[in-house]
Amino acid sequence: MPTVIVMNGPNLNLLGTREPTHYGSSTLDDVEKLCRAVGDDLALDIDFLQSNHEGVLIDRIHAAGADWRSGSLLGAVFNPGAYAHTSIALRDAIKGAELPVIEMHVSNVHRREAFRHHSYISSVATGVIVGLGVKGYELAIRSLADQGEQP
Ligand code: DQA
Repeated sequence: MPTVIVMNGPNLNLLGTREPTHYGSSTLDDVEKLCRAVGDDLALDIDFLQSNHEGVLIDRIHAAGADWRSGSLLGAVFNPGAYAHTSIALRDAIKGAELPVIEMHVSNVHRREAFRHHSYISSVATGVIVGLGVKGYELAIRSLADQGEQP
């Protein structure tokens, strides 16, 4: 079965309790269940992870690039959290691994503080979803299933 990786960066383990006016009340477990339900609907395996560590995310992106080239992976949905605004290393990892990534933010970062308006990830992403709440994860998975780029 083809796989989609859903990767979440720092502080997303706090979804549901953290700043609910920005992020809503769904927990990361709820997001995982939602993603797995979409995977079942589309006959996709969902590889779901969250890490607060940049290096862990970079290693996963490198491995995912190899999986994408072997044809077993459609791509990744990636909510980089605040690393979107700071991490050239994550940007370089995606570019270097040639991994198709849909960048995803639960909140509309463009309606928030100016430091959230720039993302290092967007210029290497296939697409970007912002501000649609956790529903964005579903849309991102469906989009990878529809348009999965071929190596
Ligand atoms: C976020 C937006 C980021 O600016 C923030 O640092 C996060 C969550 C989002 O999903 O809206 O941690 O990526």
